[in-house]
Amino acid sequence: MSRTQIIAFANNKGGSGKTTSCSNIGCALSMMGKKVLIIDGDMQLNLTLSFFNEEKSLEYASNGKNIYTAIREERDLSDFVVPTDYEGLDIVPSTSLMSAIEFDLFPKWQREFILRKCLEPIKARGYYDYILIDSPPTLGGWVMNIMCASDFVVIPVEASPWGLFGLANMFEFINKVREISPRLSVMGIMVTKADERKTYFKETLKTLRESEDVRVFEGYIKVDSAIEWSQDNSKPVVAFKKYSRSALEYKKLAKEIVEYANR
Ligand SMILES: Nc1ncnc2c1ncn2[C@@H]1O[C@H](COP(=O)(O)OP(=O)(O)OP(=O)(O)O)[C@@H](O)[C@H]1O
Ligand SMILES: [Mg+2]
Repeated sequence: MSRTQIIAFANNKGGSGKTTSCSNIGCALSMMGKKVLIIDGDMQLNLTLSFFNEEKSLEYASNGKNIYTAIREERDLSDFVVPTDYEGLDIVPSTSLMSAIEFDLFPKWQREFILRKCLEPIKARGYYDYILIDSPPTLGGWVMNIMCASDFVVIPVEASPWGLFGLANMFEFINKVREISPRLSVMGIMVTKADERKTYFKETLKTLRESEDVRVFEGYIKVDSAIEWSQDNSKPVVAFKKYSRSALEYKKLAKEIVEYANR
């Protein structure tokens, strides 16, 4: 059996920290000596831009080394993997053509399982310890594909009123996925962009932690301008500013993920 664990980062709420978490946890895991593949599943190509400048990112969009081409042509995803600057960390880039993915998936046989099939050769080789998949802020056929290919889903959430609104839809969607892909389980809610000065934040975190329906990660990520600077420099903050608050917080979360995945 393959030891590769596949983790989707998903939340239909936009700007909840999916991409930031995926890039930093991916990089932090590779710094722990793990072999990691991250997949950019979003037409905004923010995960790709977290590792390459605009010119390089657009090159992957035009030379076919991207998730869209792999899915549309139903090819082995290994052919679309490119290395990042970090040892043990590879990426499948995205392209703005992903905006058409729902149309491309629609006529396909067993359309919910295309990504899972494209990943099979990589899983079978068992080279990667973890595959992390960044999702767009939607709940459609493509995100269904991402979740059907995954063992776990991590839900990054901003502890704000609108950040929590919509979580019910998210869980309803996950339950639908589990009907056709029972191996998927929720690893937990990952609180991001936390502002500890706000009573609202503290109350919301308490409510989330008290809920018996969902697990909340022990660690959470506070608001930190180092994240924006790191993204402006096409680097994850764990590499850009190793000892910044958010870098240390993401490293702690990466350890929590390893512990959970190996339970
Ligand atoms: N801890 C943080 N502190 C400060 N800014 C943050 C933090 N985390 C994320 N951000 C910023 O918040 C914005 C949204 O983050 P991110 O892109 O990771 O969310 P997302 O869920 O992937 O968004 P989308 O739904 O558009 O894909 C980005 O501009 C990012 O720089
Ligand atoms: Mg994103």
